[in-house]
Amino acid sequence: MTEGRRHRWWQRAVIYHIYPRSFQDTDGDGIGDLRGITQRLDYLQWLGVDAIWLSPFYPSPMADFGYDISDHCSVDPLFGTLEDFDELLEKAHRLGLRVIVDYVPNHTSDEHPWFVESRSSRDNPKREWYLWANPKPDGSPPNNWRSVFGGPAWEWDERTGQYYYHAFHRKQPDLNWRNPEVREAMYGVMRFWLKRGVDGFRVDALRHLVKDEELRDNPPNPDFREGGPSYEAQLPVYTTDRPEVHRMISGMRRVLDGYGDDRVMIGELYLPFDRLVLYYGEGGRGVHLPTNMHLITTPWSARSLAALVSEYEAALPPYGWPNWVLGNHDNPRVATRIGPEKARAAAVLLLTLRGTPTMYYGDELGMTDVPVPPHLARDPAGKEAPHLGRDPARTPMQWDASPNAGFTTGTPWLPLSSDHRRRNVAVQRPDPHSILSLYRKLLQLRRSEPALSIGSYEPLEATSSLLAYARTHAERRLLVALNLGDAPASLPRTLQGRILLSTSPRQEGQPLQPSTQLLPGEALVVEPLGLS
Ligand code: GLC
Ligand code: MG
Repeated sequence: MTEGRRHRWWQRAVIYHIYPRSFQDTDGDGIGDLRGITQRLDYLQWLGVDAIWLSPFYPSPMADFGYDISDHCSVDPLFGTLEDFDELLEKAHRLGLRVIVDYVPNHTSDEHPWFVESRSSRDNPKREWYLWANPKPDGSPPNNWRSVFGGPAWEWDERTGQYYYHAFHRKQPDLNWRNPEVREAMYGVMRFWLKRGVDGFRVDALRHLVKDEELRDNPPNPDFREGGPSYEAQLPVYTTDRPEVHRMISGMRRVLDGYGDDRVMIGELYLPFDRLVLYYGEGGRGVHLPTNMHLITTPWSARSLAALVSEYEAALPPYGWPNWVLGNHDNPRVATRIGPEKARAAAVLLLTLRGTPTMYYGDELGMTDVPVPPHLARDPAGKEAPHLGRDPARTPMQWDASPNAGFTTGTPWLPLSSDHRRRNVAVQRPDPHSILSLYRKLLQLRRSEPALSIGSYEPLEATSSLLAYARTHAERRLLVALNLGDAPASLPRTLQGRILLSTSPRQEGQPLQPSTQLLPGEALVVEPLGLS
């Protein structure tokens, strides 16, 4: 086998996450669509990413903006048609871009024909496709389980006199994965998209897939702080991360592998590393990439980030390929979490750590969360407490300085950022010092330097502000240094060489001077002289 063949495409790839509602509208309804994505694929190829992951575009009543699916094997008319999807896929492949689609196995919409049947009577053949339970003698829900979006996870069904379970919105009843008919039906969904030619799946809400059969109460969370999201008042030990989930995952994996060994399965998982790594499955027979979400919540300091990387590297099994996520449609944007000045160093970190990076659309422009006034709020998760709403991180992509940022000719479904006239692709593309140009340079560098994608990781330094590490592949060794503090930082003496890339307007290609100090928020990629 040649050197290049030992790694799968998704180990070297950078994944770009698109929220279809917000990327590009082509029919003036203010909502992004598949044709819009197809039009913008040239931009993504220019940017230099390798794969796109699309959040759901399937028929949906949109109670959770597409994560409540009423037909898994079609396209919602809002987003277009199956033909539009085929065109998107065909053009993406022609441009060398892989396409990963969202797969939502945990629940359907309550308007899915399966659930409509299931709730029609207790003896309907689809009754056992969902999780139904009797009330307690006093009529209250079967146990104390809570929904991620707030309130009890049980919804009363008057007609049949039972409760059904929903981990998320009441319009998202959970499927019963212990039922072999459900498994077979959901494997059929995978086959449908695999046959159409998708390169893989991002599997939604994977830790929720199996629930305790005895319906035991979840214990209280001793670390819960008053005022936090009510879901966090409990430890979801009986509703998430159940041991049986791994059996279900290997079933999915068998379906995937039936279509060759080149498709990827990414599991959406919010878990500490010791639990997370179990999702690689025994011998790597689980998901290829259990999502590592820890950059989203770890304090942005050199020491905590260095500790995070070592903890992760130490937890990974030999067959487990790492991955890093900097942001997504469920969390505040990185430029808002750590401040727009530090977003550049974050780009360097994401694209030089060992493991497959996932970028979130608009982060390459340094887009920030957009405050959405209550009367324009759309996200059901924000109902319990507006500050939990995810709308601010889902606003339209900023393409140019025209009134709706080139996103739509209609009224955007969420307000545009007030900075879109300055912060957009058209303005940043010709500017060599823009964050967009930085992302593009990083993506090019990563593509041309296997050390940055598949190389080993060696920590070099973590002081209060400076984080430095080396990435090495074959004879090639590259050094990365980031100043995560608020004051200039001296470089360690071991860090000398030629600057390959900098987040500030420094002379790339020039040797570093021994006295060089990194500016606050600055990051460098350096090629040691004389060694490589
Ligand atoms: C995942 C999705 C999120 C959705 C939830 C329910 O966490 O990322 O957006 O609300 O699942 O499907
Ligand atoms: Mg549209």
